[in-house]
Amino acid sequence: MILRAENIVKSFGELGVLKDISLNVNKGDVVAIIGASGSGKSTFLRCLNYLELIQSGNIFIDDEPMVVTKPGKKPVYAPEKELKTLRSKLGMVFQSFNLFPHKNVLENLIEAPTIVKKMPKAEAISKAEELLARVELSDKRNAYPYELSGGQQQRVAIARALAMDPELLCFDEPTSALDPQLTGEVLRVMQNLAADGMTMLVVTHEMGFARNVANHVVYMSDGLIVEEGTPEDVFVNSGNPKLRAFLGMAEEKE
Ligand SMILES: Nc1ncnc2c1ncn2[C@@H]1O[C@H](COP(=O)(O)OP(=O)(O)OP(=O)(O)O)[C@@H](O)[C@H]1O
Ligand SMILES: [Mg+2]
Repeated sequence: MILRAENIVKSFGELGVLKDISLNVNKGDVVAIIGASGSGKSTFLRCLNYLELIQSGNIFIDDEPMVVTKPGKKPVYAPEKELKTLRSKLGMVFQSFNLFPHKNVLENLIEAPTIVKKMPKAEAISKAEELLARVELSDKRNAYPYELSGGQQQRVAIARALAMDPELLCFDEPTSALDPQLTGEVLRVMQNLAADGMTMLVVTHEMGFARNVANHVVYMSDGLIVEEGTPEDVFVNSGNPKLRAFLGMAEEKE
């Protein structure tokens, strides 16, 4: 199992944001997390990526403990060196691309592999070129981020995450800053990755993606998983009133 999150609890001061979240991701899964604004979706991804610390619960990556909480005790994280190894198995793509603005596309892609993984530069470049082909941007290898559309920047960000060979690629609303046409380009790339067997955990408001590409859909509300299952379970069969209301609103927006 690539990811096992158990009973994750996270609050910011008095505000309980994740109340008891458990989720498993197996190799090859495409898991979509949907839910209203403020329900804790980003916070959950950030906890998995060690960008936020949890108050309680367990996280295993590749069956290795990243953090474990004994009953009645504080969570204990793995030592620094192991954390680094475990974190390198997760890739993260954010809503706001976060490319290095003063580096061109190729430089953005080879930065982490050469510096973090000490990959020889020639190898990093040839890998970057492969990845650019995969996200359909081979012609933009020398462009700077400001010369690219939002959708192109996001595809570079996806290629950059892939350059580190993650076991699990996490996305936090990767298309919500994009207009419909650019959204389509990015979703197509993500769909191709899924078809190639990439394991993905995707927070999204694109119900079409959740319905057609994901094999498991998780609906979060108020820091809890209220409903989860196959797309059919969640979109068709569930009678949960909160979920139905959320899906009704999502439909109106479309
Ligand atoms: N660093 C922080 N400090 C304090 N409160 C925070 C912090 N980050 C998030 N929150 C609060 O936690 C709650 C959940 O936020 P989160 O960003 O996880 O929601 P979300 O489901 O991703 O929403 P959206 O769909 O709008 O992105 C919100 O009430 C938010 O204000
Ligand atoms: Mg969010």
